[in-house]
Amino acid sequence: MIIHNLDKTNSILNQFISEIRDINIQKDSMRFRRNIERIGEILSYELSRELHFQDQEVQTPLGVKKVPLVSDQLVLCSVLRAGLPLHQGILNYFDHIENAFISAYRLHKTPEIFEIKVEYLATPALNGKILILADPMLATGSSLVSVYDILKKIGTPSQVHLVSVIAAKEGIDYISKHFPDNTHLWVATVDDKLNSKGYIVPGLGDAGDLAFGNK
Ligand code: URA
Repeated sequence: MIIHNLDKTNSILNQFISEIRDINIQKDSMRFRRNIERIGEILSYELSRELHFQDQEVQTPLGVKKVPLVSDQLVLCSVLRAGLPLHQGILNYFDHIENAFISAYRLHKTPEIFEIKVEYLATPALNGKILILADPMLATGSSLVSVYDILKKIGTPSQVHLVSVIAAKEGIDYISKHFPDNTHLWVATVDDKLNSKGYIVPGLGDAGDLAFGNK
């Protein structure tokens, strides 16, 4: 796995990451969603530099200019429901790509032990396309692996880009063993730990609840 941890360089991204973590600011769910969206936009820009480009002629009012434009066929698949603001952020930049949605939630047997349930999938064909798989919180990594196992039955993407906002080191280690070696992981920041319930520490809490309220 090729890991791109964007908080390695100081930038305005730190402002957005700090606001989504901050207990006083995250109460404003509209601001929380918008910050996740803004992080999605920045991650998209960075990711775009790994894509393929082909020169296209653009007619301006005064002449013709050759511009390299993304030539890959991209499918953006987000994990419901926490993935929706991140999906919007990525779509703000890649506005012509195909969209897919998959649900994944934790079914807790005890507070510490859970399995991942996937109940909903809407996707175009994936064979030979580049799959961008978005899930804001990469905690244990089990949701991403479960949804990828299902997506693989639909078709084999030529390349996978995983997009997350906060990842735990343990989750990165886990997914590295389950995704192809040429998979890129784009993450805004990485935290050290998970708690006994599989939440990222210090993390930000429950991203789905913060964006859309308690279930
Ligand atoms: N999902 C979340 O929303 N937060 C975590 O810390 C882990 C999974």
